[in-house]
Amino acid sequence: MPEAIEKISIQLKVNGKSHTVTGTHVGCDTTYCGACTVLLNGAAVKSCTMFAVQADGAEITTVEGMEKEGVLHPIQKAFGDCYGLQCGYCTPGFMLSAVQLLAKNKKPSEKDIRKAIAGNTCRCTGYQNIFKAIQQAAENMKGA
Ligand code: FES
Ligand code: FES
Repeated sequence: MPEAIEKISIQLKVNGKSHTVTGTHVGCDTTYCGACTVLLNGAAVKSCTMFAVQADGAEITTVEGMEKEGVLHPIQKAFGDCYGLQCGYCTPGFMLSAVQLLAKNKKPSEKDIRKAIAGNTCRCTGYQNIFKAIQQAAENMKGA
């Protein structure tokens, strides 16, 4: 039985205004970096350049929606186990792109993984541990 995790909500006051911080980030605001990736009806999309009206009636999943009942999604666990992140700014976007990949392809090749995350940019990791994390998640999700 995987260990349950504790959810922490981060609230900050910046220049006198309260903010609740989420994992979905704006990096470039030009559809380049993928830090803003969310799932829209199960498809990974770059939310920074979507119109709000495009999400009308849609089901949106952010990184906060990946864990269930305090248990990390296998992709989240694999990123931790494989050190697939450093600063973590890009990580929610990579994870959601991986969710989309593994929903469609249970045994992705390295080429499949490279293609699936081609729209996500990481300035820290050099990508190798991100590949390893997605490969490990695919292995751990076999039969799921
Ligand atoms: S913020 Fe970079 S693609 Fe959306
Ligand atoms: S871990 Fe820092 S940008 Fe990817």
